[in-house]
Amino acid sequence: MKVEYPKRISLANLPTRIEELNSLSKTLQGPSIWIKRDDLTGCATSGNKIRKLEFVIADALEHKADTLITCGWVNSNHARATAVIAKKMGMKSILLLRGEKPSVMHGNLFLDGLVGADIRYLSPAEYERRYEIIAEIVSELKKKNRVGYPIPAGATYPVGIWGYIKAAEEIKNQSPDFDAILVPVGTGGTYAGLFIGKKLFDLKAEIYGVNVEEDEDYYRERITEIIEEWNKSFHQPISYSREEIRIIDGYQGKGYSQFGRNEIEVIKLLARTEGIILDPVYTAKAMRGLIEEVKKGRFNRNEKILFIHTGGIFGLLSRVEEMGNL
Ligand SMILES: Cc1ncc(COP(=O)(O)O)c(C=O)c1O
Repeated sequence: MKVEYPKRISLANLPTRIEELNSLSKTLQGPSIWIKRDDLTGCATSGNKIRKLEFVIADALEHKADTLITCGWVNSNHARATAVIAKKMGMKSILLLRGEKPSVMHGNLFLDGLVGADIRYLSPAEYERRYEIIAEIVSELKKKNRVGYPIPAGATYPVGIWGYIKAAEEIKNQSPDFDAILVPVGTGGTYAGLFIGKKLFDLKAEIYGVNVEEDEDYYRERITEIIEEWNKSFHQPISYSREEIRIIDGYQGKGYSQFGRNEIEVIKLLARTEGIILDPVYTAKAMRGLIEEVKKGRFNRNEKILFIHTGGIFGLLSRVEEMGNL
């Protein structure tokens, strides 16, 4: 199908490589497992968010914006990618981060500070009102003849979703024969983009999401909302059933940004067998989901599975004290 993309600015190193995880596949004696290196989309801009930001920034420029305003938890990968790319584009960024200012800025937060982002720390109660606060900031900027462009958490809104629709096309062009594609699910935008892309480009692979918080019911609902919003905003609506939204539940551990022995073991395993560095908040949980489901026999030996490495290395580096002795 000819898909009419909205405007996009090339910011990421694309296409990202697809590599076979030989040792892991051999150890598990199950399907052949491959990895798409979206952790290599950039350096300070690495990870999944820069794909979404390619479309977001194009839209912000259409709106003549001079300031990007976004939100997330205190060590948000998305906020960091936004802050870095704002600088590259000659824009300012305002980050509303849930959490307290730490005594030392680590990981993503360090990079936010390094590029000079305007960081505002929000209490949990304030964070509940984050979109109101963003709207207030936009009005304040307007009084000063400046144009603020609000980006929802994770750039998960119809414009940002295009990033992973395009990634689905990229995968189809690189290797159309995957049986399953597996991705972590945080705000749900990456999953929704791949799911829509599967429909638009007629990908054979089923799209599986491993939720890093909440549960399957929550995400089936949330991803349906995201797809419906996208369907209303663009001219090529997809038809689908909710049952096609495949969530692998049970690997979120104690919840968002919490991790323990299970995730640490997976991080060590991938580092020591494949030289792949996962993060504890998203990709380790998703990889654990994949490994455990392979052991349970969800995927068979003849299948070919693609794991999307969505990045997060700076998140890992912000949590080294919790990783224990290596
Ligand atoms: C490294 C990483 N992986 C996965 C995700 C999840 O992506 P999404 O929010 O689009 O579901 C995020 C962000 O939330 C992330 O930073």
